[in-house]
Amino acid sequence: MTIQRCKSIGFTVMFIGALVAAPHSRAEEMLIGPDLAGSTGRQIATPMAFSLPISGLSAARQREFFFGNRLFNTNWVTAPASTVTFDGLGPTFNRVSCSACHLRDGRGQVPDGPNEPLQSALVRISVWDATSESAKPHPAYGDQINDRAILGVPAEARVRVAWQDVPGAYTDGTAYMLRRPAITLDQPAYGALGKDVLTSLRVAPAVIGLGLLEAVPEADILALAESQKQAGIVSGRPNRLEGNRLGRFGWKANQPDLRTQNAGAANGDIGLTTSLFPQQNCPPAQKACLAAPSGGSPEISDEFLEKLTLYTQTLAVPRRRAWDTPELRQGEALFTQLGCAACHVKTLKTGDHPVPEVRHQTIHPFTDLLLHDMGPGLADGRPDHQAGPAEWRTPPLWGLGLIPVVNHHETLLHDGRARGPAEAILWHGGEAEGAKEAFRKAPAADRAALVAFLRSL
Ligand code: HEC
Ligand code: HEC
Repeated sequence: MTIQRCKSIGFTVMFIGALVAAPHSRAEEMLIGPDLAGSTGRQIATPMAFSLPISGLSAARQREFFFGNRLFNTNWVTAPASTVTFDGLGPTFNRVSCSACHLRDGRGQVPDGPNEPLQSALVRISVWDATSESAKPHPAYGDQINDRAILGVPAEARVRVAWQDVPGAYTDGTAYMLRRPAITLDQPAYGALGKDVLTSLRVAPAVIGLGLLEAVPEADILALAESQKQAGIVSGRPNRLEGNRLGRFGWKANQPDLRTQNAGAANGDIGLTTSLFPQQNCPPAQKACLAAPSGGSPEISDEFLEKLTLYTQTLAVPRRRAWDTPELRQGEALFTQLGCAACHVKTLKTGDHPVPEVRHQTIHPFTDLLLHDMGPGLADGRPDHQAGPAEWRTPPLWGLGLIPVVNHHETLLHDGRARGPAEAILWHGGEAEGAKEAFRKAPAADRAALVAFLRSL
């Protein structure tokens, strides 16, 4: 099987070599098959494409997975309720379930205009503290706007997203129109937010393949930063969190592992306490919030948190639907030639992990899990741990082509501003300015091939 595939890859390499003349690229680096996630992938391209457990998951862990799936989809209710296990919502919150934002385990989106509420996105906030020269949670609102609340507790504020047009053109003269969000926080319930408040609009990422990313050895990620420094084209760096832990998850790599990420989401997005975050998410100014009844201490037991974590560790990455057409081969070659693969690193290996099924896999996530300066166009102006205002973690690109199938939209980037892969690339700046410009200057057929390649992932 393996030998056969190598042979056919060898053939295609010669073909591509003639087509786009890329003699410097090594074959193994250049050609990726249908399996992006080693032996853990799934052959599926329906709206359920992000919702299956990884191939090869043991029967015992499949049972935990399905329980975790139930927790992920549970609509939490106000305490006290007859369903004691699933009460404890809020007092303030964003949505009543994980899946409300990560719909079908997929990608969230942003409102089309200022009169629509946020559905599957949230706004992080902070204030600049001149004394410590760092961003701090807002004293009256914390570090995230909770735009909903239980009965009798005022929601923190209403988020409005308006869009501004940003025109541009490819070098061949073809015009395009990008859009950039302008965020306002309306109806603040606990005093003025102040005009210095820093905001960061973020959409929910898809939650596939995350156990594999968690299993990439820290030393390998740091080695990527080092080799980028040597090569001198891009300069990714790790985010460092409390206790000097490496950040891996979230748009700015502000979470160290899935357990902490999930407990943070339960607390910050739904208002559920865990042993990791035992306090209700109520800053001192929010008296009604502090006085509201709780749904137990904690509201999510360690056993539930474990199941939820296993679930997010074992959602499968779908296999590619097509991969060996001339256009996709050309697109893949361009992905390397234009410099995309410098950050969207094609191949990583996983190491040790509590879930045996994700150990020692060769994966193609298209990320280095490092932060990069993406320039002023994408900057949110809000630091997050050691991530600067213009820095973002390279997002994995696996599953990108199935977002429209699962979520019925194709909006990309941290704030959902890009309507499709081309707009996402055109927003790249900073360390990725060269790659963006190479794309802007490329002939239309090359641009189409690159986009087709991205949609095949
Ligand atoms: C209000 C919408 C919303 C809800 C509800 C929500 N999330 Fe998220 N989730 C997000 C956003 C936005 C991010 C990115 C956060 C960031 O960049 O700071 C995220 C990130 C994540 C990630 C990391 C993904 C990655 O690729 O780095 C995981 C895992 C996750 N959420 C799990 C959960 C779980 C489990 C729940 C329920 C307990 C949940 N989320 C509830 C919006 C939401
Ligand atoms: C310097 C590192 C770097 C380079 C080079 C780079 N990217 Fe990115 N890419 C990123 C980061 C970081 C983001 C996230 C930015 C954000 O959300 O604001 C991103 C986002 C994206 C997205 C959107 C992903 C999503 O989940 O929303 C696509 C698509 C993409 N890049 C494709 C490309 C292509 C194609 C190229 C080459 C033309 C390229 N990138 C070059 C770092 C890079």
